[in-house]
Amino acid sequence: MGKKKKANWTLIPGQPLTEMDRRILSFQERGKLCPSRSMIKTPEQIEGIRRAGVLNTAVLDAVQEKIREGMTTEEIDRIVYETTTKGGGIPAPLNYEGFPKSCCTSINEVVCHGIPSEDVVLEEGDIINVDCTTILDGYYADASRMFVIGRTTPKKQELVDVAWECLKIGEKVCSEPYVFVGDLGHAIEKHAHSHGFSVVRDLCGHGVGLEFHEEPDVEHRGARGTGMLLVPGMTFTIEPMINQGSWRVFIDEDDPYGWEVITDDELPSAQWEHTFVMTENGVERLTW
Ligand code: MF3
Ligand code: CO
Ligand code: CO
Repeated sequence: MGKKKKANWTLIPGQPLTEMDRRILSFQERGKLCPSRSMIKTPEQIEGIRRAGVLNTAVLDAVQEKIREGMTTEEIDRIVYETTTKGGGIPAPLNYEGFPKSCCTSINEVVCHGIPSEDVVLEEGDIINVDCTTILDGYYADASRMFVIGRTTPKKQELVDVAWECLKIGEKVCSEPYVFVGDLGHAIEKHAHSHGFSVVRDLCGHGVGLEFHEEPDVEHRGARGTGMLLVPGMTFTIEPMINQGSWRVFIDEDDPYGWEVITDDELPSAQWEHTFVMTENGVERLTW
């Protein structure tokens, strides 16, 4: 409310209007939030992010192959560090704003940014999100998966499945360009609510590619036609965090680094994440 919408999309002086200029300007003239040119990646940059996505996928595959009951989250971190560096990459989380490890390992009521530790052992019934961001040749790809350790409760399994469905719904809304972030947020929230679950509000997806976190914010809830317009060449994540209970979260006071995010009611949370590029034909996934 009362937020001023600035004209982000600007024309290049002396250049004729392109079809894309016309389309974006038609939204901007109606007061919609449009990207700036700096958010549009070149084909070469998109190929770089795609290569980072291939390595990122290999890293998560390596985790998936080894993860099991009795393992510590420190061991997961080691797999991530080793697979990433052997592939010529750098794990983006390591030393990022004081984050001490190479990936995030978030179990049960930990929503995100869980810190791998020697002291945390995976137990039967745990649901864990492993979130890896990979830098390759300066390009970033960001993805996370849920893993179920042994057998879990039907409720936790439902949460894991619904979080995945929410990501897929977000992707589907983006099956054409010139949709708004609020369009996908709206669809995601509707699906989460239909299962009695809630969507985390305090954290969101983001532009990604040349940096870890870029514009725009990709909120996983909201009203249609709000948020930023998604146009060809933009690269961003969709990463809904779905809570079994309340959407409210807080930073774990026991975390000396101040990173771990926990649900207020200590009920479980689940999340999946992928990196996408918007094209003329809708989004294409750059992580698997
Ligand atoms: N990978 C997370 C995201 O999806 C961010 C983690 S920041 C870290 O945006 F420092 F905790 F790694
Ligand atoms: Co992300
Ligand atoms: Co991530």
